[in-house]
Amino acid sequence: MGRGSSRQKARALLRASSERGVVNLEHVLPYATAHARSSRLHGPDHWRRVAEIGAQLVRETPGADPHVVDLFATLHDTQRHSDGHDPDHGRRAADLALELRGSLFEATNEQLFLLAEALGGHADGFLSGELTIAVCWDADRLDLGRCGIQPEDAFLSTSAARRRLRAV
Ligand SMILES: [Fe+2]
Ligand SMILES: [Fe+2]
Repeated sequence: MGRGSSRQKARALLRASSERGVVNLEHVLPYATAHARSSRLHGPDHWRRVAEIGAQLVRETPGADPHVVDLFATLHDTQRHSDGHDPDHGRRAADLALELRGSLFEATNEQLFLLAEALGGHADGFLSGELTIAVCWDADRLDLGRCGIQPEDAFLSTSAARRRLRAV
């Protein structure tokens, strides 16, 4: 099966899943770089953990949008070209999200704006006062243990993430 038909099939499957408000990771894979698909540090296992952590943080962060957090988790590292220095992979993921809204997933304009902000800036090391973006970035940083890096309070934006850090 060629790349074009596999993308068409992924789009059809994604439409079905996004109608249920769920983003299926398998359907995102055709849009990921070859490196991202196979990376132990930044690949699908990491996306899945960020989604799980993000879902927990959302439940403890009133006002944060669970759909945006779920989309962020699944898309944020899909455009990496390496596990090393790749400062623009978040901005490439934001470009992908803008391209795929309406085919890969559904989102309102406000959700898409938040998603693009969260994706685009997630590798820049900032904190955020916007609750949905804050949960996205914290969920990613709380999985830093896989790289042998202990997450620190100072780099977390939400009280839910700081509580979780103290609990482990
Ligand atoms: Fe990243
Ligand atoms: Fe990540």
